[in-house]
Amino acid sequence: MIELKEVEKKFGTKVAVDKISLKFEGGFIAITGRSGSGKSTLLKMTGLMQTPTSGSVLFDGKDVWALKERERNLLRSSSLGFVFQDYSLEPNYTVAENVELPLLIAGMKREERRKRVEECLSFIGMAEMKRQKAHTLSGGEMQRVAIARAIANNPAHLLADEPCGNLDKENGDNIINLFRTLADEGVTVLMVTHNAEDAKKTDRVISLLDGRVISDERL
Ligand SMILES: Nc1ncnc2c1ncn2[C@@H]1O[C@H](COP(=O)(O)OP(=O)(O)OP(=O)(O)O)[C@@H](O)[C@H]1O
Ligand SMILES: [Mg+2]
Repeated sequence: MIELKEVEKKFGTKVAVDKISLKFEGGFIAITGRSGSGKSTLLKMTGLMQTPTSGSVLFDGKDVWALKERERNLLRSSSLGFVFQDYSLEPNYTVAENVELPLLIAGMKREERRKRVEECLSFIGMAEMKRQKAHTLSGGEMQRVAIARAIANNPAHLLADEPCGNLDKENGDNIINLFRTLADEGVTVLMVTHNAEDAKKTDRVISLLDGRVISDERL
């Protein structure tokens, strides 16, 4: 469980996130709001990629910014997965190598890695394409590989910033369906989106305006 307590982020005099308190306790959650409302900043602070100016971020009750850097890095790599709009795959690595990367970093043994990569690739429906180089994939395929890579380490939370932003409707729906399956399996999926249709397919919609939560609706 992730809890934000009075979390604030300032850039100079600009308040990007204005003392937001929220709890993320599972399910498929959408964060919406117009451009500049603070969605990405909120997601980055939730994912420990950005330090709040004030307030605290609690993981299972632990204040993560009070931990030692090593412990925080461990928490980040073991309990968080990220998916971005631009996929950020290693272009010259194959599909399988991209998914294997976080497992290598985590020190998983070769046989176990092979199995987990297979599982993740079949989850995204790309087992047959495992030897294809990432730069030769379509946008929809790249995004599915990015999801497989993000969930390889079995994180409890999957954070996604406009994951369907560069995709057509069919490919976008595909990604939403994968997120739905993960959420039903117990992963907390937090997705920033501009798309009202996509937000409707989640369990909870949090809307931001000028760095504040203006509504938090359970669907
Ligand atoms: N690194 C930064 N330095 C200065 N200002 C920043 C920085 N990051 C974000 N901001 C400002 O904080 C505000 C919120 O930005 P943020 O990226 O969180 O918005 P957003 O809701 O994700 O917008 P979009 O929908 O366009 O992605 C904006 O006014 C932005 O200009
Ligand atoms: Mg953004």
